[in-house]
Parts: sequence; structure tokens; C-alpha cells
Amino acid sequence: MSIQPSIHSNASPSGGAFVCAPAATPARARPIARRLRGLATSDGAGVSLTRVIGTNQLPALDPFLMLDEFGSDTPGDYIAGFPSHPHRGFETVTYMLDGRMRHKDNHGNEGLMTPGSVQWMTAGRGIVHSEMPEQESGLMRGFQLWVNLPAKDKMCAPQYQEYGPERIPDVIVSEGVSAKLIAGRIGDVSGPVSQPATDPTYFDLSIAAGGRFGHALPEGHNVFAYVYEGEVTVGNTTVGRGELIVFGAGDSVQLTGRAPTSRLILVAGRPIGEPVARYGPFVMNTQDELTQAVRDFQAGRF
Ligand code: FE2
Repeated sequence: MSIQPSIHSNASPSGGAFVCAPAATPARARPIARRLRGLATSDGAGVSLTRVIGTNQLPALDPFLMLDEFGSDTPGDYIAGFPSHPHRGFETVTYMLDGRMRHKDNHGNEGLMTPGSVQWMTAGRGIVHSEMPEQESGLMRGFQLWVNLPAKDKMCAPQYQEYGPERIPDVIVSEGVSAKLIAGRIGDVSGPVSQPATDPTYFDLSIAAGGRFGHALPEGHNVFAYVYEGEVTVGNTTVGRGELIVFGAGDSVQLTGRAPTSRLILVAGRPIGEPVARYGPFVMNTQDELTQAVRDFQAGRF
């Protein structure tokens, strides 16, 4: 059965008639190339989190440098937040599922991230910011993804793409499958974030038991999914909560829901293919550029 997708939030589609071709029968569904669990760690002033990309087992997946999942209803796990710290040379993408986090930077920008909102921050040549919980109890849950920038954009002016949940289209893709589109498109509906350098896709998928999701992605892009509720199958493999899968070569991603409700993020991007020199919150191409980044930060030039 093929079901015409529809938008079931008040998000505005990109205009015109909404026609979405359900994924054609895949010629080559991407297989699972890697499957792993994140590592418990802490960052900031002592925020407990699970680092999924950016560890020894998966240092990066070009252009993605890091993926952290945070999720706790114990204030001690998140209350210390991320006080003032710098970034240069890449982008941080914060997607909040639950809780409230206040963001402030040294360029005078400030904002409150609420449940369902996304902040795609291009640090470019430098910002110093803080990310602090604006709650003393309750659940705080979401993801932070780091996306690299090519050499030509690393020293660009900082910028933000910030969207509340009402700006993120929530598309019914097929029976039992819906997708919140942060970046990338399904049919004629596009997520609000754009980044020509890496052409990212970032979907938050919700799949009922037996629901099938199929989506074509550019063959050259690196693609991963992280299951944060329930479980899905890819081919003959069941992938459960807390598991990351990196997809291999193919022209589409195919998933089937197994739990009553499964939720996952599906992320893809065009690899940059340049040398990466990395030191904490600075990600450049060469060691000299890292040294310069530290000097510039210490001299207050961010
Ligand atoms: Fe940060």
C-alpha cells in the first residue's frame, strides 16, 4: 500500500503541491558497515553524556566529528552545564528532545533552546559561548553533533540557524512512519537548515512496529543512524536503543520498525576529504592553524 505523505504539524512546507514519491524499490539498499555503542563520559563542567562519534572506536565519520547523546532526569547529571568555552573551524548542532538550555555568546547572541528545537551554529573563525540548563529538575534529553567545515569556510563569520519545533516539518512518510526534517528533504518538503559545504540530512524518525522507511541519499555521502528508543531492523540485523549504525555503500537507507515505537536520528553528509587537525574545541586543517587558534583565543580575538 502506498500512502500519500502529509504534514501533520503546523510547519510550513516549501510551497506548492506536496507530492512525495515513496522510495522506489531500492536497487542497492545500504548495508550496515559498522555497529557500535557509545561510551559514557562527561564534558563541560560535569555533564554526563554518551559519546557515540568522536571516541577511539569511531574518531570521526567525515564530515561528522562528534555525536553526543545527553539524557537524564537526575539534575546532577546536567546542572553544571557547559560554561563559557570557545569553538573555531566547524559547526555545533544541538537538537533538544526534552528540557531547556540557554545559550549565550561573546557576540551578543542569546537564545533558549526548548524541546523540539534545533540550533545549527557555525562557529567559523571563532565564538566563545555557554550552554547552560534552564531548569533545576526534570528531564534533559537531546543530541549535539559536530560537523566539520572545509578549509575555505573555517574562518567565515559565525552564524546561527535556530528553529523552534513549529519550524521543523513533521512529515508522515508512509504508514506508521513520520520524520521531523531538520535538514534535507523528503519529496517537496525540506528541513529549514541549509549548509552547502556538506549538504546535510538530519531526520528524527518515528517508526511504528512493522513500519517501513526507505529514503534515497546521495551515494557519496556518509550516513549513520542512532536508535534512541525501541529497535529497528536493517536487512536481517536488529538494532536496539543506544546503537549507532554506519551505513555502507548503496543508494538508499531501508529500515523497519520492530518495537511499538522506535525513534532514531538519521544523519548524512558529503565528506570533506581534507586533513583534520583537532585540539579540543578547535578543528582546523594543520597544526599551525591550531596553534594560531589557541593564540587568537587567548588574545581575545574570538
Ligand atoms: Fe559549545
